[in-house]
Amino acid sequence: MQKIKIFDTTLRDGEQSAGVNLNFSEKLEIARQLDRLQVDIIEAGFPAASKGDFSSVQHIANSIKNCSVTGLSRSVISDIDSAWEALKGGIEPRLHLFIATSPIHRKYKLKQSKEQVIETAVNSVKYAASKFPIIQWSAEDACRTELPYLAEIVEEVIQAGASVINIPDTVGYITPKEYGEIFQYLNNHVPSINKVSLSAHCHDDLGLAISNSLVAIENGATQVEGTINGIGERAGNAALEELAVALHIRQDYYHAYTSLQLNEISRTSSLVSKLTGMVVPANKAIVGRNAFAHESGIHQDGVLKEKSTYEIISPELVGFHSNSMVLGKHSGRHAFKNRLSELGLSIDDKEIQSLFSVFKDLADRKKEMTDEDLVAIVLEEQMSKETRFYELIHLQVQYGTNQVPTATVTLSGSQNEVIQEASTGGGSIEALYNTLEKCVNGEVNLLDYRIQSVGAGRDALAQVYVKLKYCEVETSGRGLAQDVLEASARAYLNAINREIYMRKLTKQPVKG
Ligand code: KIV
Ligand code: ZN
Repeated sequence: MQKIKIFDTTLRDGEQSAGVNLNFSEKLEIARQLDRLQVDIIEAGFPAASKGDFSSVQHIANSIKNCSVTGLSRSVISDIDSAWEALKGGIEPRLHLFIATSPIHRKYKLKQSKEQVIETAVNSVKYAASKFPIIQWSAEDACRTELPYLAEIVEEVIQAGASVINIPDTVGYITPKEYGEIFQYLNNHVPSINKVSLSAHCHDDLGLAISNSLVAIENGATQVEGTINGIGERAGNAALEELAVALHIRQDYYHAYTSLQLNEISRTSSLVSKLTGMVVPANKAIVGRNAFAHESGIHQDGVLKEKSTYEIISPELVGFHSNSMVLGKHSGRHAFKNRLSELGLSIDDKEIQSLFSVFKDLADRKKEMTDEDLVAIVLEEQMSKETRFYELIHLQVQYGTNQVPTATVTLSGSQNEVIQEASTGGGSIEALYNTLEKCVNGEVNLLDYRIQSVGAGRDALAQVYVKLKYCEVETSGRGLAQDVLEASARAYLNAINREIYMRKLTKQPVKG
């Protein structure tokens, strides 16, 4: 049986998904969950990209103790230096160095000849090797690169000190047979190939990311890269939960295994979905709401007689449980705290106090508080605690079929001043958002608005996700409440507060 290492890039390639904008504590929360899932490597970000990226990579590298943390770097000295500063405190500092190798990228992006690209790659690997014990080198757009040239540059970077060679299908263009042939070609034409491990990194533009990654394993790759729920640039990356479960269920075929704790998959998927605001499609393999639902009568009949007739994966394998424990308004602090720690949520005693009062408040109005509700409350509290500039004090919306919707809002501002406004709109949300715009300083445009219920039932909590342009900068926010209008107001304010927080962190002036 061959061990396949799992390289998770949810926080780097995944965070490059359009509209995704994770803050520091959200990234840390995801990294902690990836640690529990037991991925081998976490790519925590691109340290040279921004101050925010640098500090989250640094914080994750210093706090994650069971897996290797890496950061992306272009083949330039300043990127490598900044990655070293961010990663040096980790248990196994590892650099992910890349340069584009395809003719299109060489000509139009890098404006470098083949020889110049080799020289830049070799020099940067040598420089990085003076700092990092492990260097992963990636040939960006490898799959559209001339094979003899790819083999040549791979040999050179191995000689310079790279120990993992990654072959990305950057634009999601390759077919499974061709991808397998690239790995075979490198195995046959790179003299030092046995000194390194090979990694596959596939994008899903043609819907082939999983097939391509699996074919790479059949052709010698011992590491696969991807993201939770398959999020990422454009159509996304290979979904790690799909890869791991495919290898597990078809062990007879692939003769391979991963270290992933498969029963942590559902929790990881739902955490990533909540924090990124990227909803998991109902029919998504492994983690979709319908992935284990048998609808047709013939299927239901078969499953009742013998599960294996139509079920190749049990929901329990990936951590879905039908009998999740329920807390209510009579539950005490002890039961609440125990349940949070059973759910793997790391909360200190100070936080428990404020979370418990939010819980009690909601439990008074909602009969049963499920695990999903508890996770949502904790994430909501953690998200908003560092970014409270505007706080909602009071909100009233009047709506009637023959009436102009009107909203009145009271907020407290950053100096604890009280701000009160009222406005109208075509519908309740428009009236509410017009009012909130009057309360905050600067122009706001709503770019996206999504609403979801947390679990089932008429009394389910509402989770709203918004993307705004505030003072010319895109920002996103989430809001949770039992009422949809309150959740909408909270999401809006969270997005504004996060932008103010980021601006303060990077000391940038307001543009609008
Ligand atoms: O898709 C890609 O080529 C990448 C590299 C930076 C590894 O994400
Ligand atoms: Zn990528």
